[in-house]
Amino acid sequence: MDARRMEAVAPCAQAGGFARGLEEGLRRTPKELSCKYFYDAEGSALFDAICVLPEYYQTRTEVALLRRHAAEIASLIGPGAEMVEFGAGALRKIRILLDALDSPHGYSPIDISGDYLRSVVQQLAVDYPALALRPVEGDFTLPINFAMMPGATRQAGFFPGSTIGNFSPDAAMALLRRMREMLNGGGLLVGVDLVKDPAILHAAYNDAAGVTAAFNKNLLARANRELDADFDLDAFAHYAPYNPRAQRIEMYLVSLKRQSARLGDGRIEFAAGEAVHTEDSHKYSIESFREIAVRAGFAPRAVWCDDNRLFAIHWLESR
Ligand code: AVI
Repeated sequence: MDARRMEAVAPCAQAGGFARGLEEGLRRTPKELSCKYFYDAEGSALFDAICVLPEYYQTRTEVALLRRHAAEIASLIGPGAEMVEFGAGALRKIRILLDALDSPHGYSPIDISGDYLRSVVQQLAVDYPALALRPVEGDFTLPINFAMMPGATRQAGFFPGSTIGNFSPDAAMALLRRMREMLNGGGLLVGVDLVKDPAILHAAYNDAAGVTAAFNKNLLARANRELDADFDLDAFAHYAPYNPRAQRIEMYLVSLKRQSARLGDGRIEFAAGEAVHTEDSHKYSIESFREIAVRAGFAPRAVWCDDNRLFAIHWLESR
């Protein structure tokens, strides 16, 4: 890779914090962990496996929408843009946009998983030799000082995968506002999972192959690997019901018996049936998401959704 084109993955001051977050979350009543801790290398690989599950319609639906509307999206973004991706993951979806955009200037993926980001950006550099790359290892939920790349005409944010759904509606609004500020007046393309038949949602988070269960339990497996913990993975159940009033999937790890586990120098106690809340995945109508975007200072300009109304992609301009 050409070192002039890509700085080393720049760690951002707030990256990490798993040890503290786990300790604090498991000592709280009720127990609760941030879903951002899912994504070490193992968790990112498990999430990639979720994305191709037959029950998990989100990824293939969003990819099909991006492909179908790429030319229109590219014309809304305009030429010479710097694309900024929040929570970049495997960098597959950005390629659809890069291939459609008029002379994209640069690409700045931000991801909490530095090792994973490093490996996927290397391949992107080979495939897009003219693109300036600025990978950032960091937590995009915290403020990051992010000037536009010299030579770019504008910044355009890309936040696919309905990751916005993993924040409460108020936190989603605050996050969108922060993204708007980071983008220096640029627009934001954001993928959002739609409210739908609860049976479809339930299946998507309770797949027959048990990949989502392994993804959920990876929080404990990761603690065993990294933090000298001894959680018994078989003594916890993956539980992910849909809450139709709150319009969200709620994900838990439920202790199947009274037990305790070592964590560093101390021990964590679990009652039989005690739940650790690990994730919410909020679903929106097109209108309810637009309301949040407006409160965050964006003007909703375009929205695309599939014929089955499973998933939506919104283009928001800064106001
Ligand atoms: C990343 N995020 C949008 C996924 C979701 O659907 O909420 C994470 C996930 N959790 C379980 N399956 C997938």
